[in-house]
Amino acid sequence: MKLLLTDLASGVDHVPSNYIRPISDRPNLNQVEKSQGSIPFIDLQQLHGPKHCDIIAQIGLACQNHGFFQVKNHGIPERMIHNVLRIAREFFRQPESERLKNYSDDPRKTTRLSTSFNVNTENVSNWRDFLRLHCYPLQHYVNEWPTQPPSFREDVGEYCNRVRDLVLRLLEAISESLGLDRDYINSQLGKHGQHMAMNYYPPCPQPELTYGLPGHTDPNLITILLQDHVPGLQVLQNGKWVPVHPIPNTFIVNIGDQMQVLSNDRYKSVLHRAVVNSSTERISIPTFYCPSPDAVIGPAKELIDEDHPAVYKNFSYQEYYHKFWNRGLATESCLDLFKAASSTQNCESGVHYP
Ligand code: OGA
Ligand code: NI
Repeated sequence: MKLLLTDLASGVDHVPSNYIRPISDRPNLNQVEKSQGSIPFIDLQQLHGPKHCDIIAQIGLACQNHGFFQVKNHGIPERMIHNVLRIAREFFRQPESERLKNYSDDPRKTTRLSTSFNVNTENVSNWRDFLRLHCYPLQHYVNEWPTQPPSFREDVGEYCNRVRDLVLRLLEAISESLGLDRDYINSQLGKHGQHMAMNYYPPCPQPELTYGLPGHTDPNLITILLQDHVPGLQVLQNGKWVPVHPIPNTFIVNIGDQMQVLSNDRYKSVLHRAVVNSSTERISIPTFYCPSPDAVIGPAKELIDEDHPAVYKNFSYQEYYHKFWNRGLATESCLDLFKAASSTQNCESGVHYP
């Protein structure tokens, strides 16, 4: 038995049965929305210049209406982007024996190579291998990271620092867009956390039967996704799956569950998924920025009033994260488990508010 998909996928001309989704839960690739450009595209060049207010407004609208946007002029050099994609590709092209040194199926491990989503709890597997790294504070974790390819630790470490700088700027902008102090979100995250995945989706002989990742929302605060030139990411917008076509040197930013909670449901953590294709491998590198495990998360007091009661109770990020990994990638958001008593009652009595 192969532990990793990468090593199994190269030798099969059919999808093995444990990867096949039930008919009701397949990607229906021909029903995907063909139109482009439905995710806002925001130029961060002027974030600290004369157009500041306009850009804050664009960010606010994107978080509210789409849960997703793309950014250019984000401050991360092109050479660094190319380099981290190259390192990820080289990592997954190493011989199986070298890669397996990093293998673990225990989600609590802070550096690990694994496959699918959570092989211990899921019924159907996903067409993906992934390397997951904790990356903040960097010096706590960098010594566990792979040493191959040779520049891995240095180059990926530098990339993580730069992505963190971008996140901190975005958190200020998002706080401001909610009418909160610029430092508000930053101040709610305890010691802060930053994780990263290198996702590797091998070519798949029958992409219509399986997912790279099925529809899910991200459990963290905010995600900064880098994808290579191969399409595969789709975002649910107005009930339709919309592809996010790769644009070189841009990042895709999406709101995670914790931001939805902090904003008391003003900003949306939106379903997205990764589909695979029969001809080309695909790499994506999401950075998951999050509270530290001990941070207590709840709706911002300034966003609670008579018309907008607290939708969520307060909880520790640790509790949330544990639930997320153990219940599998269910389409119903994990957020429903953390609703405030008053909003749960509304659901139980069958009253649904728009
Ligand atoms: C994720 C994710 C999308 C992609 O890793 O959470 O949504 O395109 N990835 O790989
Ligand atoms: Ni995701």
